[in-house]
Amino acid sequence: MVNVAVFASGNGSNFQAIIDAMNNKTLAIKIKILICDNEDAKAIDRALANGIDVILIDYKKYTRFEIESMLVSKLKELRVDYIFLAGFLKKFTNLFVSKFKNKIINIHPSLLPKYKGLHAIEQALENNDNEIGVSVHYVTEQLDSGEIILQDTVNIEGLKNKEIHEKIHELEHKLYIEAILKVLEG
Ligand code: GRF
Repeated sequence: MVNVAVFASGNGSNFQAIIDAMNNKTLAIKIKILICDNEDAKAIDRALANGIDVILIDYKKYTRFEIESMLVSKLKELRVDYIFLAGFLKKFTNLFVSKFKNKIINIHPSLLPKYKGLHAIEQALENNDNEIGVSVHYVTEQLDSGEIILQDTVNIEGLKNKEIHEKIHELEHKLYIEAILKVLEG
């Protein structure tokens, strides 16, 4: 069994997709912990509803060094093999990333290297792109820049804003699980 930590800051619909894939045995993983930086995140409710422990971190109260040191020792203690980022809004320094080399995976709503960082979908819409991408990639110290594991696109021509977001999320939930399978199967 592969031990996993998921990091999320918000709704956690990608976190839910990972929980579902664990529960229906598509993924042979055990989610040991949810790491969250926002006490109002719906991701916390999703964890608790599935018996997953949560660590809530107050980034205002501690230095980045203190937080990352605590996380490294906690995740090692839990024997975490992989870290899946699912809408986690805080960045990592090399202190953290170097301890989990090629073991941290993120999902980003653009065809990387296009539109790194926040508001990727809005950037694509402002550019009148006809399609919007989703990328699952390894995490390095540089934001949204690690090796790509899988990418796919959604055609958004003629769709309304709400439909666009729904389609992208739908694709994300499918692609994230496929990418995790690909990584775990080596
Ligand atoms: C997703 O669009 C993901 O690509 C990005 O953050 C968003 C998180 O959505 N990194 P959710 O919280 O999983 O619903």
